[in-house]
Formats: sequence, structure tokens, C-alpha cells
Amino acid sequence: MSNPPRKVLVIGNWKCNGDRTFTNKQCMFLTTLQIDKKTTELAVAIPDIHLVSAKVFLTGKVFVVSQNISHFDNGPYTGETSAKMLMDIGVDWAIIGHSERRLLFKEDEKILSEKLKRAFEAGMHVVYCIGEDLDKRDVGIHYEALDLQLDTLIANADKFWEYVVVCYEPVWSIGTGKTISADHVQEVHDHIRKYLKTKVSEDVSKATRIIYGGSVKEDNAAELIDKKDVDGFMVGATSLKKEEFQQVVDAAKNKKFEEENPPAE
Ligand code: PGA
Repeated sequence: MSNPPRKVLVIGNWKCNGDRTFTNKQCMFLTTLQIDKKTTELAVAIPDIHLVSAKVFLTGKVFVVSQNISHFDNGPYTGETSAKMLMDIGVDWAIIGHSERRLLFKEDEKILSEKLKRAFEAGMHVVYCIGEDLDKRDVGIHYEALDLQLDTLIANADKFWEYVVVCYEPVWSIGTGKTISADHVQEVHDHIRKYLKTKVSEDVSKATRIIYGGSVKEDNAAELIDKKDVDGFMVGATSLKKEEFQQVVDAAKNKKFEEENPPAE
């Protein structure tokens, strides 16, 4: 695999928020954001029920992302939405492994492994989230926790690495307003890149985007994106606002590229 340049990716993750009016207005707003498609990509993870209407507004401008997929294929699984169904309506991105799914819905590595299989089989792009609890960080075993979660991805990504974005989200920083310092984020992203190099290949480690999530806001985005291995953001609460989200996008699109990661032609 060659080393395509890593474009900056900013994903707004609305979580379980937004009625029809909000969805329409916020999608209209997203279409007004100016980005250089050669260097930056914008995506938005929307509750399933609004995916179809969001696609109407956003096709060709902003990637529409599902916040979840079933670990089953189509079949007798009441309440589930399969990767195939999402692909059928043109939604070819999904978040897998978000800590809220891991914690609140008890999604363990086995379930996540199935989800990854379903997504890759269907041809979806995957934003795979990993993150440590505060107690793991406190006792200095956060890298072990992250590596275990990465192993699930590595066991399934196989020939699908170009469909993968890794998102690092320290659990204790999500929705709390607490961020770890930009230097610490870089340290973890560097660890993830090195782990991919050791366990997969140098090409994959150079080409795979590693984005950061956890209380990304207008006032910390510029410092975070400045870090060498931060390739973008997953933005929760701030993505529900207009002006503040625009400022995050503006900061992200100004990322300075390193020699080894030049912008695309
Ligand atoms: P937050 O959420 O920006 O509200 O912390 C981030 C996420 O969970 O994706």
C-alpha cells in the first residue's frame, strides 16, 4: 500500500441530540463551512432517524456518519440497523467502539470485533474509538488498555486499512470539559502510530489518520491540531453549536503539514 497524505478530518458527533428542525438547520449551516477538500474533510455523525434527510443536504460536501451499527447481519434482530442497510441509503461511514457504547451498552471486544467485520464486509469506512478510564491512567497502565482495544481493530482490518480512522478519546475527558494537555495527546498518538508500525506495517502507521476527541472546543483546537500526530477531531458538545464548531473547523483546516505528510495534489 502506498502512503496517501493524511487529510485532516473533523467529525461532529451529535450523539442522541437533535430534532428535525435542528437537523435541517445545522446541516444547512455545515454546507456553508469553507474547507479546502485537498487537505480537509468534514463529517457529521447523526442519529439514525435523521440520516436520510441529512444525506439530502450534505451529499458531496460533508460525510454522513452513523453513530453505531449492528454486530449482526440482516435478520431477526429487533431494533437493529445493519451495515448493509446503512450502505443502501448511502451512509458509508460508521463510528465503532465509542466509549459510551462500550460503557453504557456493554460493548466488549468480542462485539466490537463483530461490528468491525460487518462494517468492512459491507464496504464502510470506520472511525474506531479507543480510550482509557482515569483509573488506568492513574496507575500508569493506559497504554496496555489502549493496545488491547487496538488489537481488536488490528485483528479485523486486514486489507481494509484505508477505510480506517483511529480516534483517541480518553474516557474521563468526554463531555466533562477536561482535556489532557496537547503534549499528552501527542504522546498517546505517537504511541498509537508506533504500535501500528510494530503490529501492522510502516505504511499503515504512516497513512492511518489518528484523530482526537474529548472536550474539543474553540479554545483548545488550534493547540491540539498543531501536534504532529493529531490528524483531526471528533467533536461532541461543541458540534451542536454553530459559531464554536466553525472555529474548531477553522483551526483544524489550518494544520501545518510536515514534510512526511504533505497535502494531497
Ligand atoms: P465531547 O464528546 O466533545 O462532548 O467531549 C466527544 C465524543 O464523545 O465524541
